[in-house]
Amino acid sequence: MSKTLRFGLIGAGRIGPVHAATLAYHVPQATLAAVADLNQQRAQALAERFGVLRVLTTGMEIIADPDIDAVAICSPTDTHADLIVAAAAAGKHIFCEKPISLSLAEIDRALAAVAKAGVKLQVGFNRRFDSNFLRVRQAVASGEIGTPNIFHIVSRDPFPPPLTYLRPSGGIFLDMMVHDFDMARFLLGDEVEEVYAQGAVLVDPGFATEDDFDTALVMLRFRSGAIGTIDNSRKSTFGYDQRVEVLGSKGKIATENRYPNQVIVSGEKMVYTDAPYLFFMQRYPDSFAAEVQAFTESVLEDKPVAVTGEDSRVPVVMALAAGKSSREHRPVRMDEITA
Ligand SMILES: NC(=O)c1ccc[n+]([C@@H]2O[C@H](COP(=O)([O-])OP(=O)(O)OC[C@H]3O[C@@H](n4cnc5c(N)ncnc54)[C@H](O)[C@@H]3O)[C@@H](O)[C@H]2O)c1
Repeated sequence: MSKTLRFGLIGAGRIGPVHAATLAYHVPQATLAAVADLNQQRAQALAERFGVLRVLTTGMEIIADPDIDAVAICSPTDTHADLIVAAAAAGKHIFCEKPISLSLAEIDRALAAVAKAGVKLQVGFNRRFDSNFLRVRQAVASGEIGTPNIFHIVSRDPFPPPLTYLRPSGGIFLDMMVHDFDMARFLLGDEVEEVYAQGAVLVDPGFATEDDFDTALVMLRFRSGAIGTIDNSRKSTFGYDQRVEVLGSKGKIATENRYPNQVIVSGEKMVYTDAPYLFFMQRYPDSFAAEVQAFTESVLEDKPVAVTGEDSRVPVVMALAAGKSSREHRPVRMDEITA
């Protein structure tokens, strides 16, 4: 393989352009060679914006293109497993947005195809590459704050996605909190035994029609005995609210939101700052670039990927357990989730 990885990008919706920008400008060893979207206007607009010469319609056309070394799957979640299986069979390396699927059987089918083909697969748990969260992980892993006892993850979007997005996304636990389930495992370096989840519809009654929640709180218990919470809302009026705190036996470590500037305005009665970054495109660009950089290096240097198959599967088990817990109003152990 040449020393440049030629990517084909599938899906030019919300996240597609974020990865297109990374591939076009931020990873020297990668090029964005082709883009496909069922919506041709979107594909064309993305291609023009990033100077991509080859514009296709379906993900399968990208996979069939012999000039493509790797695919970046940015289409809706319910398309991922089939695209992974096809890409693996075609010998393409795969960067795929989270989650692989809402079904464990489909995840296992995709992971088996990847293992059989011997290609690399990395799932888009970008927050692992954020410098704040990496520092928290380092503090826990090195013992800097002692043994972790309690943690809190706050993860709130500024506004909800369109209601049409919700059903194929799997709902708040599988679509949104799956990032935070991954963060909980990553930051503590431990596995969760049990979750207890509560969900509510407090932002938009349309979520109830879609059999979903827009607000959720989950309590987790780890094997070590550590306990913690994850708090999600689809609406935070002041911007993207992304914070973490871990209390350990020797101290605590906490992150704040990120802001477009560091200005503090001091008036007669109030001292204030501007609002935090609005959403994931503004808050996490560095981590989106770093995850694709890491994936590209894993392929070109034949190194293990930073987010393993197990890492892509376990947060889905946690999300399924949280869904069950919220429906049955009781704590659910991970080993209750078998399919
Ligand atoms: N890591 C993150 O922070 C993050 C953020 C947003 C979305 N996501 C994930 O990214 C995925 C896409 O989400 P989105 O919000 O960008 O969705 P979206 O609906 O905005 O965009 C998806 C695009 O894929 C196209 N598409 C659908 N099927 C296709 C196919 N077979 N071939 C080619 N194009 C196809 C659609 O026409 C659409 O333009 C989801 O799995 C979601 O969970 C991750």
